[in-house]
Amino acid sequence: MPPAAAAAPHHIAIVMDGNGRWARQRFLPRLAGHAQGVDSLRRCVRACVARGVGVLTVFAFSSENWNRPQDEVSGLMGLLAKALAREVPELSRDGVCVRFVGEKAGLSGNVRKGLEQAESLTAGNTRLVLNVCFNYGGRWDITQAAARLAARGEPITEASLHAAMGLAHVPDPDLVIRTGGEMRISNFLLWQAAYSEFFFSDRLWPDFDEAALDEAIASFRARERRFGRTSEQVQQQQPAPERQTEPLRA
Ligand code: FPP
Repeated sequence: MPPAAAAAPHHIAIVMDGNGRWARQRFLPRLAGHAQGVDSLRRCVRACVARGVGVLTVFAFSSENWNRPQDEVSGLMGLLAKALAREVPELSRDGVCVRFVGEKAGLSGNVRKGLEQAESLTAGNTRLVLNVCFNYGGRWDITQAAARLAARGEPITEASLHAAMGLAHVPDPDLVIRTGGEMRISNFLLWQAAYSEFFFSDRLWPDFDEAALDEAIASFRARERRFGRTSEQVQQQQPAPERQTEPLRA
């Protein structure tokens, strides 16, 4: 029997890869690819709103991206600050709640202020949560959560770790998309993607349009999500088991 059609994804997460190659193919500087990447992100946010997606999480700057050439790093910081100033009013009108996820230390006062203003301006919006992972790494997130629990002397459980991590305000991603043809996770959502479905697209991020998003969603809907159960159990609609919440150490 073919798998029952899954519901549409509530939470989509994206590794927006391929800006540099998009620019190189056009003999443009890499930063022109990132600028085009911002346009693609705007289009993607609108498409998600139109499709009733509840949460979109994007990987905009990783903990490891500091290793890029200095002009690219400062260019990306400038792009973020500009994009926030330009896009947030309209995002807010569209009902988008912007959340920053990542390590604030190391970011300039200007960038931090832009992120904080975007968060406070859009805090009451409920149509779509847009999580911008910036200066973010999955290892950093797990480590900072564990360190905070340890500092407070709290037991480390799946539930307490989850609650101390950057995406505690949203359910885990249903679908993780990576554009740009590479098939790796690159330190993105290491904890939260445990049971996500993955979709790898050969399109470069600036070329990832509504049709490409629909292709990813259609692929997701054709999957059978078992969460450790057998296919027969899923067909009989038995509930997924409770999460493990026993303390790993006191
Ligand atoms: C990876 O492409 C992309 C990034 C490191 C940055 C992603 C940023 C955006 C899409 C713009 C939106 C960002 C902000 C600041 C709001 P790559 O440069 O690794 O591409 P390549 O693999 O082709 O070199």
